[in-house]
This record gives sequence, structure tokens and C-alpha cells, in this order.
Amino acid sequence: QPTPMIDPFGRQITYLRVSVTDRCDFRCTYCMAENMTFLPKRDLLTLEELERLCNAFIDKGVRKLRLTGGEPLMRKNVMQLIRNLGQRIDEGALDELTLTTNGSQLSRFADDLYAAGVRRINVSLDTLDPQKFREITRWGDFDKVIAGLEAARKAGLKVKLNAVALAGFNEHEIPELLRFAHGNGMDLTLIEAMPLGEVDTDRSSQYLPLSKVRRDLAERFTLTDNPLTTGGPARFVTVAETGGKLGFITPLSHNFCAACNRVRLTCTGMLYLCLGHDDNADFRKVLRDNPNDDAVLHRAIDAAIARKPEAHDFELDETRSRVAVARHMSMTGG
Ligand code: GTP
Ligand code: 5AD
Ligand code: SF4
Repeated sequence: QPTPMIDPFGRQITYLRVSVTDRCDFRCTYCMAENMTFLPKRDLLTLEELERLCNAFIDKGVRKLRLTGGEPLMRKNVMQLIRNLGQRIDEGALDELTLTTNGSQLSRFADDLYAAGVRRINVSLDTLDPQKFREITRWGDFDKVIAGLEAARKAGLKVKLNAVALAGFNEHEIPELLRFAHGNGMDLTLIEAMPLGEVDTDRSSQYLPLSKVRRDLAERFTLTDNPLTTGGPARFVTVAETGGKLGFITPLSHNFCAACNRVRLTCTGMLYLCLGHDDNADFRKVLRDNPNDDAVLHRAIDAAIARKPEAHDFELDETRSRVAVARHMSMTGG
């Protein structure tokens, strides 16, 4: 057993989020601008480098690994990486290997994911209206995502839907999203929009505090606090009428940094210690300077964890339209 990785605030780091590509086949308006400049391929870690780095984190005590993007399934040959990392579960070195995906490629990948050891995935779905879906993703195909969800179910993957709650967009559709998710055996997590990266919309006018959403839902549904945790930032309730679970991710209205257990790696090998800060550690350089020496890698991980900040400082007041962090969500995958 490795010595636990403990940050300066006494939090144990057990969860690594890895953005395997900054590219995405959608352009969700809260996430990206319509015209994004993506990273040149030469800046990316190779799949072998990503694997080596993930393994180093697992050796250091990471128990949960989530691949994100951009859209992780857009990365060429990503299944090879997933299969190799899945072997760490068989060894008992890793508890969970999972993905956050927009679902567009799931029809193609669901069976392979299950075979590789993935048991649960999170799929972003902000609306059930195909027209509005096209609007929020700018050109995403709703039917493809629905087909992907069906493929995931058939493959035996447990699915949690993620919906970013947006005033004037899906606010009134949340009960319907809830019934759809729970009716199809999926949990649902609602997320407050966070101020990362310049986008073409005004996030502050769309900001919807989940405290309000919860009050509104409580008029129609019986919500009971559920102590369950996935190891992620959501707080859950059980919905009596549907029997399903509903999660709330409230970085703005209710900061959850005190329980943070995670760090995040970009596809270029930069380790971000917090979603809400720019400070990062360059692991691409460490990897390439030390091709055969994982001990150096392990020491670099310790040095980085020692720099983890206490909390993000996303603001809730009238300044909340301010972009807190210039980097887009797709660099670190949330
Ligand atoms: P579970 O393992 O199912 O709990 O997933 P998760 O919530 O950890 O991951 P997911 O990729 O589904 O992320 C859902 C939302 O949580 C995204 O909007 C992320 O940006 C956000 N999120 C995850 N970790 C953090 C964090 O440390 N801070 C903040 N502010 N948001 C986070
Ligand atoms: N604020 C909150 N959530 C976001 N996501 C993407 N951008 C933002 C943002 N600015 C969500 C996606 C996906 C998850 C990884 O993060 O919808 O479900
Ligand atoms: Fe792509 Fe996800 Fe960003 Fe939407 S939220 S543009 S699906 S990375």
C-alpha cells in the first residue's frame, strides 16, 4: 500500500481526472466558444505517456480515475489506453475507471468500455428537446446521444446524466429530465455553470442557483438527503416518486472544496491542483526528461500535491460573470 497522498489541508487525494483530448465534436455554449483553437497534436502526451503518468498516480494512491475531454472518445485509439488502465482494476490497484462523455460515440464504444472494466459513466445531457439540444451543443445530434444511452444500457454500463442548470434554457425542463433519467434507470446530477474560459454567451444571465432548483423540485417530489457519495463533488437526494437519485453540484452556491479529493491532468501533461486556479505542474517535461525513472515522477507528484490550494474563488455576486479562470473547461475536463 502506498503512503497516502495528503495535501496541505489534510485532504487525501484519491481521484485523478484526465482530459485525454481538448477536442470535442460538440461546442456546448457554456463550455466553448464556437470558434475554438485546439492544441497542435505535437503538444499532446502520447497514449503511452498518458498511461505511464496515470500508472504513476495509481502507484501513489489514486483509486478512482476518470477520463474526460473535450470528448474522451474522440481521442484516436483511446480504447487501448482504457484497456490497459482497466488491468489495474484486476490487480486491485484501482477501484474505478470511468468516463465523462457527451454520448455521441457511445453506440460504437459501449461494449468495449464494459469489456475493459468500465462499469459506470457520466453522460452530459442538458435537454430532451432535439431542437434545444442542437442549440446548446451548436450542432450535436440528439438522436445519436439517445442511441448511445441505449447502447450503454445494453452493454451493462450504469449511466449518470449530467445537466448544467441554465436559467431561461432548461430550468422548467428539470422535472422532465428527472423523470426521463430515473424512468430509464439512470441517476441525474445537476451542475451550476462555472466561469471557466471565454464563451460567446453571458454566463451570469444564465446562472441558476441549485438551491432554488431544489426548492422548486421539492414542491413536486419528495426529496430525502442521501449520504451516498460517488467520491465526486455531488450531494445526493433520493426521489421517493421515482426511486432514483438526484445529485447537486454547487460550486457557487455551496462550496464543497473542504472535501476535495481530486487533481486533474490535461492532455498536454499539465497537472492542475484545482479547477478554479491556474497554478499547474508540468509533467510532460518530467516524463520526457526521465523516460526510465518513475521515482522522479513520484517525487514530482508529491511536490505538486504540496501546492494544492485550499479552495476555488468562483464568485456568486454581481461579478460572477467575470471569467475566473481563462482556460476552458475542455482543457481539464471539469
Ligand atoms: P462522479 O464520480 O459520478 O461523482 O462524477 P464527478 O461529478 O466527479 O464527475 P463529472 O465529470 O461528471 O463532473 C460533473 C461536474 O462536476 C463537472 O461540471 C465538473 O466540472 C464538476 N466538478 C468535478 N470536480 C470538481 C471540483 O473539484 N470543483 C468544481 N468546482 N467542480 C468540479
Ligand atoms: N460549468 C459547469 N459545468 C460545465 N461543464 C462543461 N462546462 C461547464 C461549466 N462552465 C460540464 C459538462 C460535463 C462536465 C464534465 O462538465 O456538461 O457534463
Ligand atoms: Fe464538448 Fe463536453 Fe464541452 Fe459540451 S461540455 S462542448 S460535450 S467538452
